[in-house]
Amino acid sequence: MSALSTSLPGGTWALGDLTVTRFGYGAMQLAGPGVMGPPADHDGARAVLREVVDLGITHIDTSDAYGPRVTNRLIAETLRPYPEPLHIVTKVGATRDRQGGWPTARQPDDLRRAVHENLRTLGLDALDLVNLRLGDATGPQPGSLAEPFETLAELQQQGLIRHLGVSNATGDQVAEARAIAPIVCVQNMYNLAHRHDDALIDMLAREGVAYVPFFPLGGFSPLQSSALTGVATRLGAAPMSVALAWLLRRSPNILLIPGTSSAAHLRENAAGAGLPLGDEDLAELDRIGR
Ligand SMILES: NC(=O)c1ccc[n+]([C@@H]2O[C@H](COP(=O)([O-])OP(=O)(O)OC[C@H]3O[C@@H](n4cnc5c(N)ncnc54)[C@H](OP(=O)(O)O)[C@@H]3O)[C@@H](O)[C@H]2O)c1
Repeated sequence: MSALSTSLPGGTWALGDLTVTRFGYGAMQLAGPGVMGPPADHDGARAVLREVVDLGITHIDTSDAYGPRVTNRLIAETLRPYPEPLHIVTKVGATRDRQGGWPTARQPDDLRRAVHENLRTLGLDALDLVNLRLGDATGPQPGSLAEPFETLAELQQQGLIRHLGVSNATGDQVAEARAIAPIVCVQNMYNLAHRHDDALIDMLAREGVAYVPFFPLGGFSPLQSSALTGVATRLGAAPMSVALAWLLRRSPNILLIPGTSSAAHLRENAAGAGLPLGDEDLAELDRIGR
């Protein structure tokens, strides 16, 4: 499938013509508390990004809403000129207010502004992959995505975006997007305890479209389950490692973007995602979210 060889667990996946390591990195945790403002430890945040590249990770997930603009600027400041295999995925469709809320911003002008803002803050001429973020903070919401998605498809035709995806989307919205323009990924909330996208993941796998779970470790509320702790204890591993290894085993089209502000956690996660899980472990873990 790809020319990129990696020793990272899970191997690689092709997002259209972009090959990425299935073990990626989500940059949201690099902003300040509540994903607002600069990180408390600026040098520490830059060290995490350098570690991402040193580990051979070629997929970073970000958004100019993180901070806002904080994580994009950190990425550009630390990693430009970008190494050739590295691909940066961003998302548009939400902005930030003074209270730290995430109001939607999906009018055509909002989206054009956001794409140009991402280009500027990341220091790029074209964005590798842009996800249209739908729904709201409570999750996906029904409704047509035609107008905003057609706007992104126009920006793609203008050469500002290489590939498109959708995020926080319902199954109907995924189908509607695919009727407008090809998508290479869906980024929705999914982890061991939140399995509502099981059928969508299997459908996308058959179609060769990536599924990128956000909150793979539970996000702001770390995953907690006696079954998870039980399996981790039996294997002598960290529960986070088990949760990531399970996701890689769940389906070949799943790409990981676990977030962390710690280089040590990043290394632990990159190693832990390769934990071998036996049939008994998988059966026990499978029951958590059902
Ligand atoms: N499309 C969307 O709407 C959307 C929404 C949310 C997030 N995202 C994306 O998804 C990515 C992942 O989500 P996320 O970062 O919110 O949540 P997550 O990956 O589920 O969990 C991150 C949390 O886990 C902790 N953690 C990570 N590794 C650990 C370890 N080995 N041991 C102990 N704790 C560990 C982190 O703390 P430390 O910093 O202390 O390691 C952080 O608090 C984000 O970075 C962002 O790029 C997208």
